Amino acid sequence: MARVQWASRIGFVLAAAGSAVGLGNIWKFPYIAGVNGGGAFVLIYLVSIALIGFPIMIAELLLGRGTQSSPVMAFSKMAGEESNWKAVGWIGVATGFIILSYYSVVAGWSLNYVLMSICDFTNDKSPEQINSLFDTLSASGGINIFWHSIFMLITIGIVIGGVRKGIEKWSKILMPVLFVILVVLVVRSIFMPGFMQGIEFVFAPDLSALTAAGVLEAVGHAFFTLSLGMGAMLTYGSYLSKKEDLVKASVVVCSLDTLIALMACLIIFPIVFSFGFAPNAGPGLAFKTIPVVFSQIIGGSLLSILFFLLLAFAALTSAISLLEVVTAHFIDSLGWTRKKAALITGSLIFMFGIPSALSGSKWIFSEWEDLFTKNFFDTMDYLATNWMLPLGGLLMAIYVGWFAKKATIRAEFTQGSKYGSLFGAWLFVLRFIVPITMVVVLLYKVGILQVGPES
Ligand code: TRP
Repeated sequence: MARVQWASRIGFVLAAAGSAVGLGNIWKFPYIAGVNGGGAFVLIYLVSIALIGFPIMIAELLLGRGTQSSPVMAFSKMAGEESNWKAVGWIGVATGFIILSYYSVVAGWSLNYVLMSICDFTNDKSPEQINSLFDTLSASGGINIFWHSIFMLITIGIVIGGVRKGIEKWSKILMPVLFVILVVLVVRSIFMPGFMQGIEFVFAPDLSALTAAGVLEAVGHAFFTLSLGMGAMLTYGSYLSKKEDLVKASVVVCSLDTLIALMACLIIFPIVFSFGFAPNAGPGLAFKTIPVVFSQIIGGSLLSILFFLLLAFAALTSAISLLEVVTAHFIDSLGWTRKKAALITGSLIFMFGIPSALSGSKWIFSEWEDLFTKNFFDTMDYLATNWMLPLGGLLMAIYVGWFAKKATIRAEFTQGSKYGSLFGAWLFVLRFIVPITMVVVLLYKVGILQVGPES
């Protein structure tokens, strides 16, 4: 039976961009850029996207389209039934499972903030009171589980709809809305007194602000923000027609993702500077600082509703790609129906997310924190983003660069592409630049390489 395909090119592009554009762009990127000093970090991040993210994105789409399969089956078709490379596919499915479990909790916070904004929650509150609302929320296990379940239900519902009538249809609705909201908010920021200061913070690199940890974080974030390293793009690529140009598609998706991350910074930093807040507030930047600022400007409660809707929509199109990887795996390998696969895996992911939803309540799972120094939520995020994604991406690059049949790879790369002549350059980057950089990054993380006494 022929595999389902995207109904249109724009549908695929919006679905893939929808996967890439998520909490990583709007919540995480501004705060890690802020913590790491702004411009110089942004520069390293842009280089990582171009030099590492972009080539791996082509490799993933290529593996998916070439095999017409989700990650595990893709490796077993390419490398052989018995091959150990199948483990890369398994790591991918496991990573998707883990990421979605806590991602949905953060997405749930956005839903809660949409509702709070509709109720004009900042009315008559001091900045301290507004800030403490976030701490109260993250400590309220029951509320977190409630929103986590709502978000998972919506995600499961869309994935059950299928590639065309679920994922593609919703991406085509949500992504344009997301973009319009972004533009409205950027335009509002342009009129803030701190706009130039914000621009400068994001675009003027101050190399002295850069630390080795910042560089590592930038490279790691390139994977997360482009949805690479676990087979999400691979799975979306498996629904692509042979007529499509993989190189061009990758350029478009990487550019859109980067554009939106930068726009998020242009929304957040001008507002932050206009009110004299610190750009390095950390994870609370979107949930604590931004609401305080909105409480002080005219029309702020409307802007606040828009901002948190933006976060929720961005999270939703990403979450469906995470669930799709796990779902497609069970459809492809066990022959389950889509409905059964999405319901069962989605429910398991929901349950696995419960400890993350409870992580802010200090009295639950405190033994976990004693044992691993991080709460459950942070442990999962750390494990997936810092280790599993880079490792998965590295192994995929090594496989495509060194182990797969070159003729097969070349044929799939040039198939439908105007940029076939770039094959040699791409393969070179995938063989040398990507593995060397990634190995260095991983060695630093393990602590085998060291930067200086204090890092
Ligand atoms: N890219 C999304 C973000 O920036 C998150 C995401 C969706 C993801 N699918 C993924 C991350 C697959 C890694 C792998 O928020």
